[in-house]
Amino acid sequence: GNHPGPHGRFRGMEPMEIMGALLTPEGRDDPYPLYEAAHAFGTVVDVSEGFAMASGYEVVNRVLRDPAFGVWDHELRARTWPSELVERPSIKSMERSVLNSNTPEHGRMRALISSVFTPRRVGMLEPAIEAAVETLLDRLADEGAGGAPVDFMDRFGYRLPVAVICDLLGIPESDRETFRKLATQLAAVLDFIDLADALDLADAAGTELESYFGALVAERRRRPADDLTSALIAACDADEARLDEVELLANLTLLLIAGFETTANLFGNGVRLLFEYPEVADDLRLGTVRYAGFAEEVLRYDSPVQMTSRVALTEGLMVGGLPTPEGTEVALLIGAANRDPRRYEEPSRFDPRRTDINPLSFGAGAHFCVGSVLARTEAAIGFPRLLERFPALASAGEPRRNDRLVLRGYASLPVTVA
Ligand code: HEM
Repeated sequence: GNHPGPHGRFRGMEPMEIMGALLTPEGRDDPYPLYEAAHAFGTVVDVSEGFAMASGYEVVNRVLRDPAFGVWDHELRARTWPSELVERPSIKSMERSVLNSNTPEHGRMRALISSVFTPRRVGMLEPAIEAAVETLLDRLADEGAGGAPVDFMDRFGYRLPVAVICDLLGIPESDRETFRKLATQLAAVLDFIDLADALDLADAAGTELESYFGALVAERRRRPADDLTSALIAACDADEARLDEVELLANLTLLLIAGFETTANLFGNGVRLLFEYPEVADDLRLGTVRYAGFAEEVLRYDSPVQMTSRVALTEGLMVGGLPTPEGTEVALLIGAANRDPRRYEEPSRFDPRRTDINPLSFGAGAHFCVGSVLARTEAAIGFPRLLERFPALASAGEPRRNDRLVLRGYASLPVTVA
């Protein structure tokens, strides 16, 4: 091709080796040279029998939008996964959610969730988001007074999305710390790594969340409140039961998990990029770069969700010229697609002035992220307030990655604010 080749170390790597390297600690820490190596094979390539890897923007976009490719729903899992795995409480906890369902279940559930998770409801949340941001910034100012280092992830990155999603679902303030812990533990099932270790914790978290949400649903059935949980219940109980009880709990759990670590990572990855590109922070404060463009470029350049996958549901399908027989899994490397040299000029340059960014970070097609408006709203309020409030915001040491591949972000990010 006419784009710069991959980093010397990875040149000549076979697709199988690239996939394997992505799962190593080094690959998780910095997958981007491996994505470049994947681009060298074209937009999609066979990795092994029944497994392909797509790294091109157009191909990933097209597979996500093609109903002939499905997600790993409970039927597919039951047929192909070991039963010990399928039966684990952590796996079961979300297997009836929208994210793990195909037609027709998906359409029915998605319509119901979309009917309550409206831009209007998100708009109504704005004052609450602003208040939560101010509270967190006040505390950051106190704790960081005199240049004391504070952990941005712990004090802001994670706290804001947790507060917002808990507000939305109607989870009281006193339960939020527990929720954050359980959500992090259960989110391990969205990743591929070290599942053996993480699964025990995830199982316990899944079980605990299920009983918590079960109690919350019972309580809101008796006394509805002005929250999304009550709205979902009302929609379910309206005429015929449009979500059964298992589906209701699975989707509440999903909303918590999907809405929290992803948004936290948008904040963390963004702040880290501001430290790497201080001129961007200056331009944002001066108003010569727009915050909306900045957030989109953070999403593209270092996406909080790096990968998903789809399975060919019928025979005779092709992906970018590659035959994918029924049952073939296609790994969709969102993080690579967002840096496809065929789609973006100088893809490895962080440039919030780009136009037509449109990253695939929220997915596309039927499963396009339900929370994209909410996440963008949190960013649109959080980043400007943070930069205005703390002109001296600076890095205070090496950040630590969270050692995940799919949900890419920082476990800790030390900063000073004064
Ligand atoms: C789906 C990313 C925030 C709820 C998705 C998907 C992606 C994604 C890539 C599609 C997965 C696939 O097709 O396999 C993100 C990112 C976020 C974010 C990068 C933040 C920066 C949120 C928030 C919520 C949320 C705040 C809710 C409060 C969901 C749900 C789905 C989903 C329910 C499943 C939709 C379906 O299957 O129909 N998200 N998300 N997300 N997201 Fe998000």
